[in-house]
Amino acid sequence: MNKLILFGMVVLSVLAFSGYKVWAQLREENKNVNTENAKILIAYYSYSGNTKEVAEAIHEKTGGDLFEIKTEGSYPDEYRPMTQQAKKEIQDGYRPKLTTSVADISKYDIVFVGSPNWWGTITPQVSSFLESYDLSGKTVIPFITHGGGGVQNTVTDMTAQCKGCNVSKDGWVGYGSRTLGISGWLEDLGFKK
Ligand SMILES: Cc1cc2nc3c(=O)[nH]c(=O)nc-3n(C[C@H](O)[C@H](O)[C@H](O)COP(=O)(O)O)c2cc1C
Repeated sequence: MNKLILFGMVVLSVLAFSGYKVWAQLREENKNVNTENAKILIAYYSYSGNTKEVAEAIHEKTGGDLFEIKTEGSYPDEYRPMTQQAKKEIQDGYRPKLTTSVADISKYDIVFVGSPNWWGTITPQVSSFLESYDLSGKTVIPFITHGGGGVQNTVTDMTAQCKGCNVSKDGWVGYGSRTLGISGWLEDLGFKK
């Protein structure tokens, strides 16, 4: 092989490898949250059970306190009217009154916040939670379940509604009740095996 081509290939390989190393290092730095002696709360809203399953899988791995967000109000049994009511609530910025409460939010360092994706955003119940509690200065780790649309605006809206919080960019976004991969995701974030 032409020596010049060989030299070029070696240089390119070295550049690619060092670029990857920097990227991997930055990724690790950004991802890790301080889990040392951290007090953990896992708060979630779940309408049909998927987000609850994910919350329980997180809890199994991290320990801490599990908290189900419940509110006043109800939805029709039929799917379409239910989704239409939810759509209107989101458009109107409706914030249902919470009917479950966290005893002492100030003691938590890390708060996982779980929501289904509803019309591309978080549910009104989760918005009520975010606006009712002072989570400023805490690390907030989103976990989102969806029906095929993925993350859409859920995490950006959660970040906007969680005033002064450090919302992790490396939350969980999973289809339905999928829990496969949760252990690895939590380990990447710095939670012990
Ligand atoms: C009112 C409503 C709106 C929804 N909108 C979306 C959506 O915009 N994108 C999407 O991917 N899934 C959407 N879904 C599907 C849910 O996000 C998905 O089934 C989720 O896992 C349900 O979580 P849960 O069982 O904890 O309630 C919607 C479901 C409902 C009930």
